[in-house]
Amino acid sequence: MFAAVVFTLAAASMASAHFALDYPTWRADTLENTSYSQWEYPCGGVPYGVGNRTDWAIGGGSLSLDLHHPWSYLYVNLGLGENVTNFNVSLTPSLTNVTGNGTFCIPQLLIPVSISDGQSATIQVVTSGASGAAMYNCADITFRYDAQLLSGDDCTNSTGVSAAIVDQSPTTSQSASTPTPTGSAAGAVNTGGVALLGALSFAGASMMGLVL
Ligand SMILES: *[C@@H]1O[C@H](CO)[C@@H](O)[C@H](O)[C@H]1NC(C)=O
Ligand SMILES: *[C@@H]1O[C@H](CO)[C@@H](O)[C@H](O)[C@H]1NC(C)=O
Ligand SMILES: *[C@@H]1O[C@H](CO)[C@@H](O)[C@H](O)[C@H]1NC(C)=O
Ligand SMILES: *[C@@H]1O[C@H](CO)[C@@H](O)[C@H](O)[C@H]1NC(C)=O
Ligand SMILES: *[C@@H]1O[C@H](CO)[C@@H](O)[C@H](O)[C@H]1NC(C)=O
Ligand SMILES: *[C@@H]1O[C@H](CO)[C@@H](O)[C@H](O)[C@H]1NC(C)=O
Ligand SMILES: *[C@@H]1O[C@H](CO)[C@@H](O)[C@H](O)[C@H]1NC(C)=O
Repeated sequence: MFAAVVFTLAAASMASAHFALDYPTWRADTLENTSYSQWEYPCGGVPYGVGNRTDWAIGGGSLSLDLHHPWSYLYVNLGLGENVTNFNVSLTPSLTNVTGNGTFCIPQLLIPVSISDGQSATIQVVTSGASGAAMYNCADITFRYDAQLLSGDDCTNSTGVSAAIVDQSPTTSQSASTPTPTGSAAGAVNTGGVALLGALSFAGASMMGLVL
């Protein structure tokens, strides 16, 4: 009975789990252009060089997504350089479950590594359902001191959209069934804990999760 319910939810979310990366501007519209596939690691099948670079605040910029599914795990990773292959800086070190469809915007996603003005990088956004099968989109950015954060109407959460850190303590059954689809991100979690504090309103709880 329970298993059947879980399966139904997973199937429903997999059927419509594609998402849009609204800000920073994605490499290409992987929803509209059917020659791309969001299933494809690392950037939904969009090669480097197709999109434009967005100037992004050097202390960490805004991230705005358009989600189309009841819930999904969200991972945001950063890779430094031009033609990035290694997205090894995790900007979401705790397993995050975003519930609801519509826009989801984080006003400032803090960066746990030291960055200089003009540094090129690529942001990789990954969503996955319960099965661990993941969807990818990337945005190429340039870190700039004078880049603005999104605010007001440009950065909103739709009604009913919110995020929660998934309890990963070893005693829960969830921890055994929560694969991380982006193995390359794993090493970066502890590179600069200070910058991470406050990145999300639930960061305090997330730090405890890391220790366990
Ligand atoms: C869709 O993507 C292909 C590459 O896979 C590209 O050649 C084509 O120009 C794109 N179409 C549009 C409308 O951007
Ligand atoms: C990016 O790197 C890949 C190999 O990692 C290469 O095949 C591709 O041509 C490069 N793209 C550009 C635009 O330099
Ligand atoms: C990149 O920017 C140019 C100029 O604003 C625009 O015409 C083009 O559509 C953009 N390309 C993508 C993939 O967004
Ligand atoms: C991430 O990968 C790049 C390129 O492989 C490497 O130079 C850098 O040291 C790595 N950074 C971290 C934080 O692991
Ligand atoms: C994620 O949140 C949704 C909605 O609140 C919930 O149904 C689902 O069980 C959660 N997933 C996990 C693994 O916590
Ligand atoms: C969310 O999904 C429901 C049901 O599919 C739909 O009626 C609603 O318009 C969606 N909301 C947004 C903001 O996309
Ligand atoms: C959207 O929700 C997330 C977590 O639930 C929160 O961190 C963020 O600040 C919210 N965005 C806005 C614009 O309030």
